[in-house]
Amino acid sequence: MKLDQHFVGKLFNVKSPHDVTLYPSDSERARLERNFRGKFKEELKLGAFVSYSGNKKIPFLRLYRYKEAFSYNLVKEFLKRFEATEQDYVFDPFSGLGTTLFTSMLSGIPSIGIDKLPIAYFVSMTLPKFLLLKEGEMKKLWEKLKKWVDESDPADVALDVPIMRNAFSEENLLLLRKMKSAILKLDSPYKELFLLLFFSILEECSFTSKDGQFLRLKKDKQPSHPIEAMQRKVVQVEEDVSNAKLLYSGLTIDENIIPKVEYGDTRDLSNVEFEKEPTIIITSPPYANRYDYTRTYALELCFHFVRNFEELKAIRYGILRSHIESRLLDDEYPPHPAVKEVVELLKSKKLNNPRIPHMLTAYFVDMAQVIEQWHKVLSKGAKVAVVVDNVRFEGEMVPVDLILSEMAENVGFNVKEIIVARYKGNSSQQMKKYGRVPVRESILIWEK
Ligand SMILES: C[S@@+](CC[C@H](N)C(=O)[O-])C[C@H]1O[C@@H](n2cnc3c(N)ncnc32)[C@H](O)[C@@H]1O
Repeated sequence: MKLDQHFVGKLFNVKSPHDVTLYPSDSERARLERNFRGKFKEELKLGAFVSYSGNKKIPFLRLYRYKEAFSYNLVKEFLKRFEATEQDYVFDPFSGLGTTLFTSMLSGIPSIGIDKLPIAYFVSMTLPKFLLLKEGEMKKLWEKLKKWVDESDPADVALDVPIMRNAFSEENLLLLRKMKSAILKLDSPYKELFLLLFFSILEECSFTSKDGQFLRLKKDKQPSHPIEAMQRKVVQVEEDVSNAKLLYSGLTIDENIIPKVEYGDTRDLSNVEFEKEPTIIITSPPYANRYDYTRTYALELCFHFVRNFEELKAIRYGILRSHIESRLLDDEYPPHPAVKEVVELLKSKKLNNPRIPHMLTAYFVDMAQVIEQWHKVLSKGAKVAVVVDNVRFEGEMVPVDLILSEMAENVGFNVKEIIVARYKGNSSQQMKKYGRVPVRESILIWEK
């Protein structure tokens, strides 16, 4: 159920976005709330834009459901607020689906993105190529491709990953493996375009569902037939090709405007080949909410990007440490007093997962490094918009928006605004135990 944000506000009795009463008055978190009091701005109309659901009607962006994405309209809005022109250079250091890059391209602004998850890197890079299609092209190719599936050998996939053993019926698994081999026979860019569609049907052809924290097994689910699912995707692409002609008429796609995407780690930008110093960042990091992208996107990764479980785990431990299996090094400590405060409080409680304090420390160590890197590569006067969620564990609120903003100030950014776009609820368990508290989802506006 989608909650109306004003209703949520009433439910939680939100009086103001900065709520010092949540914390003891002499605590670090209360100090942060007081410190940033003047920067808060509540704009709940932006709430609908901070999630992927806004992309469901946007040609091509709707093809691959990247649950953690924000929407086309959010990027449009901030390009407008930042008065972006063709002279700007937009950077998304956590590109995901590539919403920022795709939207910048449609606005005629050059951009660059990086992501450390192979499927996200692939999708960011491939989506803009759909704009080069002519009407009927994909439909014609699909008719040919369909016939190759039966005679193709099943592609190798990472079958030693536990979820792969239960995710599919035998028939669907075999058909999907053959379909992948058939797709690989195509030339570029059609190979990549069909691969993207292929990844987008894996969930519906399986007994799994990407809900919340996990890729859940749902044995009572009725999986789609791969050929029928792909057929529907091709119909969607054809609809998008003709709609794009109307929506984006006048847009000339040339080399300069196709976003550049690198497979990389935003904790170290020293080797990224920027055309010039970026002038704008519009981004959203992983949230400190325990979700593990390598689990949510395990089917895609196992079908194409990793050969075995070891390689999957290497990706898991290589991405930003926002999930529960994150490893903390012996010489790493909370990099901010508010993080130290929360971590110490949590350590004294009985947690449903004892690794939460480690994860929080590692998350903020990583984010401190990320913010420092951004400051290094951006041009003077560059504008930054970061969408981020606060989190709450065992009743302890972590004001991620304020901690990141203070870290940004410490390296030289000017914090202009903290826009509250949504209030989220808590898990029913937390509410029962610790009462109802609204959790902010904010857009942080910084300037170099
Ligand atoms: C919240 S998502 C971004 C979604 C994006 N705004 C969109 O609209 O699709 C965060 C992204 O950060 C990526 N990521 C995780 N660790 C990273 C790292 N160390 N460097 C770069 N990207 C990373 C994840 O793979 C994920 O795609």
